[in-house]
Amino acid sequence: MNKKLWSGRFDKATSPEVERFTASITFDTRLCKHDVRGSLAHVEMLAKVGLISHAELKRIRSGLKEIRDEIRSGKFKPGARYEDIHMAVEARLKQIIGAAADKLHTGRSRNDQVALDMRLFLREEIENIRTRIEQLQRNMVKVAWTNRKLVIPGFTHLQHGQPVLLAHHLLAYVEMLSRDSSRLEDCLKRVDIMPLGAGALAGSGLPLDRKYVAKLLGFTRVAVNSIDAVSDRDFAMEFLSSAAIIGVHLSRMAEELVVWHSREFSFVEIDLSYCTGSSFMPQKANPDVAELVRAKSGRLFGSLVTLLTVMKALPLAYNRDMQEDKEALFDAVDTLESCLTIMAGLWRKIRFQPASVREAMGGDFSQATDLAEYLVAKGCPFREAHRVTGKLVANCLRKKKKFEDLKIEELRSFSPLFDRGAMGILSHARGVERKKTSGSTAPTEVMRSLKAWKKKLGAGNA
Ligand code: ARG
Repeated sequence: MNKKLWSGRFDKATSPEVERFTASITFDTRLCKHDVRGSLAHVEMLAKVGLISHAELKRIRSGLKEIRDEIRSGKFKPGARYEDIHMAVEARLKQIIGAAADKLHTGRSRNDQVALDMRLFLREEIENIRTRIEQLQRNMVKVAWTNRKLVIPGFTHLQHGQPVLLAHHLLAYVEMLSRDSSRLEDCLKRVDIMPLGAGALAGSGLPLDRKYVAKLLGFTRVAVNSIDAVSDRDFAMEFLSSAAIIGVHLSRMAEELVVWHSREFSFVEIDLSYCTGSSFMPQKANPDVAELVRAKSGRLFGSLVTLLTVMKALPLAYNRDMQEDKEALFDAVDTLESCLTIMAGLWRKIRFQPASVREAMGGDFSQATDLAEYLVAKGCPFREAHRVTGKLVANCLRKKKKFEDLKIEELRSFSPLFDRGAMGILSHARGVERKKTSGSTAPTEVMRSLKAWKKKLGAGNA
């Protein structure tokens, strides 16, 4: 390893083993563009307050911009010679511009620098993830719109409960995803805080203009307490908890796709371009994408637990433990981005199978609640209506009959309140249409919501 920026008080070399163990360069290189961006703002400020001359600023700025170009063109590869990305950038700057580089770190510690880099990184990625969430929502809304008339069994305990519109079911996911997005938006408020000026922990004796740096970097606020500024990783924990919840949501969606794609259900056909085959069983078209998304929620939970555990019981202020925040955060960002993107692709090409859905619903008695409600509307107490309808189901099961086959006389033998109108309820679709409450699966309600989402997401007509 090259000469260390902190070697002044050391009279012996670091053990290579320690260098390898303590280095973060193998993973924090990912922060390089943010590190350079932060440094560019920092030196502008140093010049503004007179801590460096205009000539020095020009040199440092041009050197940093050169590094930025090297990063963009993929030429910047600091390798394992440096402890971390902050030192690697500074060393590269010195190679390019010479002595002026020694002023870059004025009034700054790697403790506030790394906090800044992490915030810049996350700010960008949160926007990215929110865009992908929206794309997934948009594709689901399109499927809902295309199949807007399709009635499916609504499930509880994975048993047919009551008929619902498929669109209603899909819009439940769209709602979940919109909460995910708004959680991230909220998290962004606490990411959006500029820590520089905190130094190692106590602030600086130099007349740094923190607000100016915040303005240059587009931050809304400046960290209020210098100790908190370098110790705080709440913003990352918050992000990871939001990511874990998104993982839960995607895993539920993925599980349903696996089940719905099965031969037993056959509610959907996942496009073959989103399935994989078996090297042994020639007939297979497996829902591996959904299975992997289901599994990757585990990685997201793992990242959250990693960071919670790293931060738990850490005394103030910065501790090297905090270097362990990065891989968990990076992995969560990558996992989320890939899962959201692949799911959006899967939904773009999915096809529903109305015939299989109809077949599955035949004789499922999922109209029972609607029949009971019909009696209630005629003045029957709900408990009584529930009992009567339950008996009707039991009778049908005994006689191997479906609700759909019942005649009016048979209905009336269970309750005189059943009349012609009750016959209509025996169709699954009628039960859906009868719903009156806001937020229900009633077609008018679902269409209202569907149209609102289409407008919001720009999901077009098909
Ligand atoms: N690589 C370190 C990290 O990621 C940067 C800050 C190190 N500060 C220190 N005093 N060793 O947290």
